[in-house]
Amino acid sequence: MSIWTPDIAERPGPLYQAIVDAMAEDIRRGRLAAGAKLPPHRDLAWRLKVTVGTVARAYAEAERVGLVTGQVGRGTFVSQRAAPASLADYMAVHPLDEAGVVDMTKNRPTADNIALVAETLRAVTERPDFAALLGYRLGDELPRHRAAAAAWLAEEGVPVPPERAIVTVGGQQAMVAVLASTTRPGEAILCEQLTYPGIKTAASLLDRRLIGLPTDKHGLIPEAYEAALASREARLLYIMPTVNNPTGVLMPAERRRAIVEIARRHDGLIVEDGVHAYLCEPPAPTPIAALAPERGYYLTALSKIVAPALRVGFVAVPEGQGARVMGAVSAMTTMLPQLMAEAAAMLIESGAVRRCAAANRIEAAARHAVVASLLGREVAGPLPTFLCFLKLPAAWRASEFVTEAWRRGVAVSPAAAFVVGGRPVEAVRMNLSAPRDLAELERGLKVIAELVAAVPETCCLTV
Ligand SMILES: Cc1ncc(COP(=O)(O)O)c(C=O)c1O
Repeated sequence: MSIWTPDIAERPGPLYQAIVDAMAEDIRRGRLAAGAKLPPHRDLAWRLKVTVGTVARAYAEAERVGLVTGQVGRGTFVSQRAAPASLADYMAVHPLDEAGVVDMTKNRPTADNIALVAETLRAVTERPDFAALLGYRLGDELPRHRAAAAAWLAEEGVPVPPERAIVTVGGQQAMVAVLASTTRPGEAILCEQLTYPGIKTAASLLDRRLIGLPTDKHGLIPEAYEAALASREARLLYIMPTVNNPTGVLMPAERRRAIVEIARRHDGLIVEDGVHAYLCEPPAPTPIAALAPERGYYLTALSKIVAPALRVGFVAVPEGQGARVMGAVSAMTTMLPQLMAEAAAMLIESGAVRRCAAANRIEAAARHAVVASLLGREVAGPLPTFLCFLKLPAAWRASEFVTEAWRRGVAVSPAAAFVVGGRPVEAVRMNLSAPRDLAELERGLKVIAELVAAVPETCCLTV
């Protein structure tokens, strides 16, 4: 642990501004935690070889732009709203590929799935049409691939004919393609206040604004959705009603119907993200996109079920919208990686994807039980999925908790990465699928349980 000393050597402009810029970058990258106390003016001035007046001016400017708050008699603190902007920023400072770390930040394919993918890729190369698969295919997917997409979408409760089932390069491209084809630059998009960070990068790439809407234990609050649509600020809603990432929340059937009714009243469009929905056991209520097929898009992917690097996703679109979404996919990647689309089709046709999904559900239930025994039933939540959202005791700031967990060899994701609008949330998300086995999971969770019980040091810190 060391006292924060900004690196201002290479920064252009006045010295005070260089300090502010360095501070903003360190906050964004997770080096300076929300709530951390900054050094007193005199100390920092001495270390940077600048005047006390320069530091005072820098702190005043940082306060003006919302990076810090000054508390009379106590000092200057990094503002709660100035938490790291994204998980990617955080990861840039905290690389995870170090040996021995229990990584609970992302999905990892199981050993069985690795063997299955290897075998399937070999089978793709042995197909009689392998040479044709290597060529360009412009403007359309192979009908067989679309049929497989439709078959899997039906398994997830969204039955559509093949012409409404689009294959994409993973769930993320499905999201970008739908956003690009349903909204315009500058337009706002509604989402849950705790949402998948990929929607933030997608919205930022496309120059769309996100408006986070409040949720409760059943997911998006219908009244908030209705008010947002009525204000006419946005038409499109991005939502995860089945296994929200990060909270794991499941929206009940009645709330889904209320959301659909509101969307119909105000002519809203809905993009439902079902990437984690397959984990829901017993099966979730009917997807929103299936309740409102005229205005609902449903996206999913094989990334969590089989392996992320397959990069195969699917999107069910309303009637007549296939060409627009397909056009967006073509604009991004010209065509699909056919070899992967072929592998995915073979895996779906043979029933292997269904078997992987079932095996993952069994594993999720076993891992969920470990969370319940080490952190309690309330933390584990009612649904046995791989996502666990841990609200921290009042003494902990999420950014400090993440840093401390990392120091003890456990990687978890700060809630700030998932927040859109609203108040900061002092919580972390753990992805239970990533540890290699139950023993590794248990080792990681024991560290988390110890930290939850411990009182953090209040300190003036960076990593
Ligand atoms: C909710 C959600 N949607 C979409 C994605 C993106 O999926 P893919 O990895 O297939 O691009 C993820 C991946 O983490 C996710 O959790």
